[in-house]
Amino acid sequence: MKPNEYVTWSDSYSMGVKIIDDQHKGLLDFVNDLFNHSTGNERDEAAYFKDVIHQAVQYVKDHFQTEEKLMIATKFAGYPAHKKAHDEFTLKVVQSVKDFESGKRLVLEKFAYFLKDWVLTHIAVMDRQYAEYFRKIATRKADGKLTITKDDLGK
Ligand SMILES: [Fe+2]
Ligand SMILES: [Fe+2]
Repeated sequence: MKPNEYVTWSDSYSMGVKIIDDQHKGLLDFVNDLFNHSTGNERDEAAYFKDVIHQAVQYVKDHFQTEEKLMIATKFAGYPAHKKAHDEFTLKVVQSVKDFESGKRLVLEKFAYFLKDWVLTHIAVMDRQYAEYFRKIATRKADGKLTITKDDLGK
């Protein structure tokens, strides 16, 4: 595997909310795991994909829900567009899984690139928008630190 395929967590990806950062790290770990299993061997790749994909899809859905709950709780105006982006991405992934399950060849490396691109762009552009908003409303609370925590999610 070429080293530049890996994604490494950088503090510049931080949203300032621990639960979100932890989930983003988990997503990047999954992308790296996909690259690690991109051998080009169809049977191996299919066995691996079959093994991990359902749990990964659930992980992504849980992550989106965490973000969406926070955006709703804080009345973030960008919520509808953000939710739409999440839904469109979920649909694409679910479609890829369906195609795979109906016998279509899935090239793991291609899938890994698609995921890497989407996740990194989404974090850098859309997730950053709510992060900036969170920072603003936290400052308005004037206690010097971000008060949005896990407790705000009602978990
Ligand atoms: Fe995210
Ligand atoms: Fe998001």
